Amino acid sequence: MLTLHLADFSLAHFLEHYWQQKPVVLRGGFADFDDLISPDELAGLACEENIESRLVYKKDGQWQAQFGPFESYEHLGESDWTLIVQAVNHWSPEVAQLIAPFSFIPKWRLDDVMISYSTPGGGVGPHIDLYDVFICQGSGCRQWRVGDRGEHRQFAAHAALLHTDPFEPIIDVELLPGDILYIPPGFPHDGVSLEESMSFSVGFRSKSARDMLSGLADYLIDNELGNALISDPLRPVHQHQGRINASDFAMIKAQMQAVLDNDNLVADFAGSFLSKTKCQLDLQVLENPYDEAELLEQLMLQPMQRIGGLRCFYLDQTVAAGVCYIDGERYAFGENCQAAVLALCDQETLSYAALQASLCSADLFDARSSELLCALTRWVNAGYWYFAE
Ligand code: SIN
Ligand code: CO
Repeated sequence: MLTLHLADFSLAHFLEHYWQQKPVVLRGGFADFDDLISPDELAGLACEENIESRLVYKKDGQWQAQFGPFESYEHLGESDWTLIVQAVNHWSPEVAQLIAPFSFIPKWRLDDVMISYSTPGGGVGPHIDLYDVFICQGSGCRQWRVGDRGEHRQFAAHAALLHTDPFEPIIDVELLPGDILYIPPGFPHDGVSLEESMSFSVGFRSKSARDMLSGLADYLIDNELGNALISDPLRPVHQHQGRINASDFAMIKAQMQAVLDNDNLVADFAGSFLSKTKCQLDLQVLENPYDEAELLEQLMLQPMQRIGGLRCFYLDQTVAAGVCYIDGERYAFGENCQAAVLALCDQETLSYAALQASLCSADLFDARSSELLCALTRWVNAGYWYFAE
């Protein structure tokens, strides 16, 4: 288990003074940090069709970017290129372990763990990101320069590379294995590898109102909600036919506001929407599926492990009713299952002990307890959780 060491301050201090505010170097953030995946394994993942990867390099002084899958890297030479693979936490349980040390930020804000392998001189060039990132240095050494927030011109250095103009650094450091550089959104930065190196970036991203409202519109359509039309009996006589007057505007706004004021609706939408994964999951469907009794038997022998990248959430409004959201779906297991819901969403490892109270809270024929067992069985059979042995 990886433990985050903050030598100079507490997590509370980090959140109060740095998170979303300013970049900081956390020297020795991970003691004795070893690469969680080898460069060869990373290069192998970038050969897969369903894994997002990019190569960035310069050719005749011009920036180039190519999207995977890749067949070979031999033509690239020994320096000045970088391979980037997204969402490696979905494909490697070892890499997925890098998320737990950052659990002081909720999972709904997590984007993914992106890994880059760079040869000497390699980097993606100066740019600005929209997300918070903890760049954890693996093997090798990389020089990072971070500029201040402000007006920075951005331009396409290549169709797939948005760069920013040179900037004055407020941080200029060489990161060594185990060091972490935290960069909030909006700060220009540029990392250049000084030797062969690996970088593990844990990214957190929030949503815009546009993302949320467009997701909400889809949710209303899919669930046939919010389709009542504006109704206005007893209207006064209207003056000026082309005018949308203030009271009509208020009525139009109130119609939309009523959707947002429905906490249960918004909670169900937010839970489902935020639990959807952006990148594909590594779902291994079982060839010999369990039935409920077999699942229970197995669970008594060993815990279930959640696959990397699976998003499971509950909200304060509905958790007492045993409601949770897993990979975009809403589940309601009933009030006796609150403990199970907490374990499902907060823990990577699910033991029989954590589920026992919920599974045994009603007699065997109670629909709610068997619904939980049915769901656990379906999830294991579909590959969302697995038994390690
Ligand atoms: C990298 O790891 O090379 C790029 C990370 C970043 O700047 O966002
Ligand atoms: Co960046």
